[in-house]
Amino acid sequence: MNQKKEAWGTRVGLILAMAGNAVGFGNFLRFPVQAIQNGGGAFIIPYLVSFVMLGLPLLFIEWSIGRYGGTFGYHSTPFMMQSMDRRRLWKYVGVFGLFSNIGIAAYYCYMESWTLAYIFHSVIGTFTGMDQQQVVQVFSDYVSLDKATLIPFEPIVFFLLCLILNIYILSRGLSGGVEKVAKIGMPMLIGFGLILAIRAITLQSGHDGAINGGSVGLNFLWTPQFDSVYNPKVWFAAASQVFFTLSLGMGSIHAYSSYLRKKDDIALNAMSAGWMNEFVEVVLGGAIIIPIAVGYLGIEKVTELAGLGGLGLGFKTLPFLFNQWGSALATVAGVMWFGLLFFAGITSSLAMGVPVQGFLQDEFKWGRNKSAIAFGVIILLLGLPTVLFFNQGVFDEYDYWTGSFALFVFAAAEAILFAWFFGIKKGWREINAGADIKVSNFFKIMIAYVTPVLLIIVFLGAVFTPTHNDWVGAFNSLMAGNGWLFDHGSLVGKMLNTELKEQIAAATDPVVIADLKYKMLLANLTKLLLLGLFVSISLVVRKAFYKRKKEGRWES
Ligand code: ALA
Repeated sequence: MNQKKEAWGTRVGLILAMAGNAVGFGNFLRFPVQAIQNGGGAFIIPYLVSFVMLGLPLLFIEWSIGRYGGTFGYHSTPFMMQSMDRRRLWKYVGVFGLFSNIGIAAYYCYMESWTLAYIFHSVIGTFTGMDQQQVVQVFSDYVSLDKATLIPFEPIVFFLLCLILNIYILSRGLSGGVEKVAKIGMPMLIGFGLILAIRAITLQSGHDGAINGGSVGLNFLWTPQFDSVYNPKVWFAAASQVFFTLSLGMGSIHAYSSYLRKKDDIALNAMSAGWMNEFVEVVLGGAIIIPIAVGYLGIEKVTELAGLGGLGLGFKTLPFLFNQWGSALATVAGVMWFGLLFFAGITSSLAMGVPVQGFLQDEFKWGRNKSAIAFGVIILLLGLPTVLFFNQGVFDEYDYWTGSFALFVFAAAEAILFAWFFGIKKGWREINAGADIKVSNFFKIMIAYVTPVLLIIVFLGAVFTPTHNDWVGAFNSLMAGNGWLFDHGSLVGKMLNTELKEQIAAATDPVVIADLKYKMLLANLTKLLLLGLFVSISLVVRKAFYKRKKEGRWES
C-alpha cells in the first residue's frame, strides 16, 4: 500500500510529542516511589548528577542517531545502528530498540488500562466512603482478575479498550494521530498536574483530616543527604530512573527523530523536550503523591506502602486521600489524577508503537493500519501474561528485563557506537548540524569519554551488585574462596531467582512452598519468553537485511 511519507506537522507538535514520549508513569508514579525507597533527599543528588552526565548526553546521541538514520530511510534502530558503522553486528544491537519498546509496551499498556478503569470508578463513586484498607483492597482485587465485581474480567476489558485506542491513534499516522494526541494531552496533563500540585502543597495540617501540612512531604523529598553519594545502590536507582523517565535506551526517541529533515534542529529540540520532562517529573511528579500521602498518612506509613506497592502506590492511596476532600471534590480530583496518568501513559505507549510500525513499513512495506494492528496484536499476546499472572511477579519480571536491564545495555552500546565507532568528530558535527543553540563543549567531553565509561561502570555494577551493597565484604568472601555474594537485585540474582530460592529454603508450610515454586516457574518461563522475543526479532531483522540486499536497497 502506498502512503504519503510520514512527517511531523509542526515544531511545537514535535516537541510536545517528544515530551509526551518521555513524560509517563515514570514521572508521576515511579519517581516518587524511587525517591521514597531511596531515602527521600538522599536520592536527589545522584538523580540530578545522572541527569546531567548520562541523561542529557544520551538525549543528544539518540536524537542524532535518529535524524541520521532517517536520512537513509530508517525509522527504527537496527539499520540505523548499522548505517553508522558497517559491522553487521550493530543491527543486532539495534534489535534492543524494538525489543524494549515491545516488552515495555506489553506491561505499560496494562498499567495504562488501570488508569481508564480508575477514571471510570472515580466517576461512578466506587471509592466513596471507603477507608484506606478498602481502597488498597480494590486494587488487589482488580489485579486478581476474577475478583472484580462490576464488570466480569474487568482488567481484560480495559486492557483491550486501551489497545484499541492505541491502534486507532497509531493508524492515523504521525501528524494526524500521535502529534494531535500530544497537543491535546500534554497541556491537559500539565493543567491537571498544576491544580493537584497546588492543592497538595497548600494542604494544611488539621484541615480536611490532614495530620501534616504539604510542606512535610516536600521537605522529606528536598532535604539532600550527602552520605547517599557513597551508596552505589542509590546511584543505580537514580540512573535507572533517568533512563526510564527520559525514555532513553528504548529506541523510541530515535524513531521520532528519524522523521526530521537533515538540517532540522535537534540540539534545542532535545533540550526543550528533556527539560519539559524534568519539570513534569521533579516539580509536578514530586509535588503530588508525596505531599498528599505524607500529609494524611505520615512518612513512616508512606515509606512502608512504597516498599510494598511499587508502581501501584498512586492507585492504592490517592482515591482514599481524595475522599477526605468531600465526595464531589474527590470525584473531580480522581478524574484529574487518573486522567493525567492516562495522558501521560498513552503519549508514551504510542512512542513505543512508532518504531515497530516504522520497521514494518520500511522493511515489509506494510501500510499504517496493518502495522498498527500488528503492534496491537503483539502487545495483546505479550501483555496477557502480565495481566493473568500479575500477582505471581510476571509484571515485575518484564519491568526488570525490558524496562531496566535492556535500557542500560542499549544505551551503553549506542554511546560506544556514537563516540568511538562513528567517531566523536562526526558525531559532534551531527549534533550541531542545523542547531538553533550553541551546544557547550562540556557535552563533547561527556559524550566522548565520560558517558560511555560511566554507562559501562553502572552496568557492571548492576550485574555484580553484592548483598547489602557491601563490596568489601563480597571481595573478602571471594578471596576466602566462598564466592561472590550476589544481591537479590543484581542481574545475576535476578537471573538465578536468588530471592525466591532463599524464600523457598526458609519456608516450612507446604502450601507456601508450592506457591513460591509456582512463582519461580513463571519467572523462568517469562525469561524464556523474553529471550524468545529477542531472538525472533533478530531473525526478522536478519531476513529484512537479506531482503534489502537482494533488492539493492542496502546503502549507508
Ligand atoms: N518515559 C516513559 C515514562 O516515564 C516511559 O513513563
